[in-house]
Parts: sequence; C-alpha cells; structure tokens
Amino acid sequence: MNIISLAIWTLEKNCFIVYSGLIVCFIAFTLYHKHRLDAFYSEAEKKKEKLARTGTGGKARDFPDDADDDPDLLVPAIPEDTPHIPYRPPRRSDDEVLEKSREYYKLMAERRTVRSFSPEPIPQEVLDNLIKTAGTSPSGAHTEPWTFVVVQDQEMKTAIREIVEEEEELNYSKRMSRQWVTDLKPFATKHVKPYLTEAPAIVLVFRQTHSWRDDGKKKMHYYSEISTAIAAGILLAAIQYCGLVALTSTPLNCNARLRDLLCRPLNERLELLLPVGRPHEDTTVPDLKRKDLEEIMVKI
Ligand SMILES: Cc1cc2nc3c(=O)[nH]c(=O)nc-3n(C[C@H](O)[C@H](O)[C@H](O)COP(=O)(O)O)c2cc1C
Repeated sequence: MNIISLAIWTLEKNCFIVYSGLIVCFIAFTLYHKHRLDAFYSEAEKKKEKLARTGTGGKARDFPDDADDDPDLLVPAIPEDTPHIPYRPPRRSDDEVLEKSREYYKLMAERRTVRSFSPEPIPQEVLDNLIKTAGTSPSGAHTEPWTFVVVQDQEMKTAIREIVEEEEELNYSKRMSRQWVTDLKPFATKHVKPYLTEAPAIVLVFRQTHSWRDDGKKKMHYYSEISTAIAAGILLAAIQYCGLVALTSTPLNCNARLRDLLCRPLNERLELLLPVGRPHEDTTVPDLKRKDLEEIMVKI
C-alpha cells in the first residue's frame, strides 16, 4: 500500500473525526476574523470622532491629540471666568479713516528689504517697543506662540554669521534646486552675509510649537505658524513706521544650530532672521514692481 492509498484509507476510517475537526477550525477562524474586524472598525470610529471634535482633518501639529484626557477634567489654558470688558477705540469719521488708510499705504509701500546696513546702534527702548508691538499680534486661542531673540552682542553676531554662511554655502551649492538659485539671481544674494555682522541688531523670530502651563501640563498652541507669521508682519510694519529697515530672511537648515547657539528650548523653531537697523548710505535695492490692486483683490 503506497502513501496516498494509506491516507485515503485513514480518512475514510476516521471521517467523522476529520469533518468535525474541519468544522471546528472553520468556526474558530470565523470568530477570530470577526474579532479583528470589530477592533478595526472601533479604531476607525475613534479616529473619526477625534477629527470631528478638533473640527479638522489637518495636521496633528496644530491640533494635538487629547483623546486620552477625561473631558470632565479639562481646564482652559486661560481662566474660564476671564471677564469681558468694554472695548471702545476712538471712533473716526470716514474722512479720517480714508486719510489714515492713504497715509499708511504710502508708508508701507516705501518698505524695502535691505541687504546692507549702517552699524549705527539702535536705542534699546526702540528695540523693546518693536518687540512689544510684535507681541500685540493676534494668536490662536491667545497662545502667543513666539519668542523674539534680539542679538546686539558682536561676538554672538559673528557666531550667527559663521553658522548661516556655512549652511548657506551648502544650500546654494547642493540643497536648493537650480531653478531656485536661478530665481534668486536678480537679488544678487549669495552665501556670504556681511549684513549679519554689520547690522546693529538681529531679531530671530522663534515659533513655539507648544509650551507648558503652570500646572505642568502641556499647553497646546493652535495655528502657531500663522500666528507667528502675523506677529512677524506686525514687527516689520513697526520697523518701517519708526524709520528703520530690515532684511526678512529664512536661513535654510539653520534652525537646530542657531537654536543651540542661542540656548533656546526644543519646543522653539526658528522661522525668521531679521537684521534690523538703518540702511548703509550706499544701499541699493532691486527695482521690483508690485502687483496691481486688480491682480490681488477680488471684489464680490
Ligand atoms: C518668507 C521670506 C523669506 C525671505 N528670505 C530671504 C532670504 O533668505 N534672503 C534674502 O536676501 N531675502 C529674503 N527675503 C526677502 C525677499 O527677497 C523680498 O521680500 C522680496 O524680494 C520683495 O522685496 P521687498 O521686500 O523689498 O519688497 C525673504 C522674504 C520673505 C517674505
């Protein structure tokens, strides 16, 4: 008797046991599969609920996971009983409003990015007022997710310049696309940045991804990118208003090294680096044209 005949003979003799075994295996497999599907659907349901609660399908960065928090124990980051007080700014006539809008447009239209500075120092109180003004910016849930590091110390400016120039050399030669480097040609920028040691002050704008509450809990920062960007815009407007100039720059790949150099914590990210001061007397700027109102405004 060969092996196949032996197997068939054994199956026929024990068919009851074999069929029972197969049925038990089938039931066990069905139950196991049902359990896996239930777990999958309940996880998907939880995710859906969380998205509904945060009102977004957006990035976890700005809408952090609080699913583990007991809703009954949640406390707002600023007191829930914060009083609402009257707000009555001076009421201006239409003519005054029109005049102010013209004046302010004229002032801001004169703002230019300057890449060569006079070393004349800026009074400390001016710098304080500029940063105080930036700090008036609106922010998601009033989280004020910014830190402005103002550097006037010459040695520190030199250290910043060394880091930026090292990274920028790599940026221009390796990291940036050829199109990007070509698009920068009209601005005559390169990896050497004398303005970093010439300008009397450098303002480094850091965005706090989150912070910590007094009770030690993590304080969530909502919309930290746009909040910090608005604060930087207000800072630039204030610099222009008081008659100084700035260079808005975003040194690529310098975040970690500059954050370490300036002893900033890991929850802060460098967004902008702004040399601030008066323009060098020989400063030139590219003769750029701005878009017309019709190109940037849609009236509905
Ligand atoms: C987000 C941002 C990043 C910028 N980065 C740099 C930079 O790294 N280096 C630089 O020389 N200029 C930089 N600029 C300045 C722009 O080149 C400048 O704003 C633009 O050419 C328009 O010129 P204007 O500011 O004189 O109107 C940056 C501007 C912005 C808004």
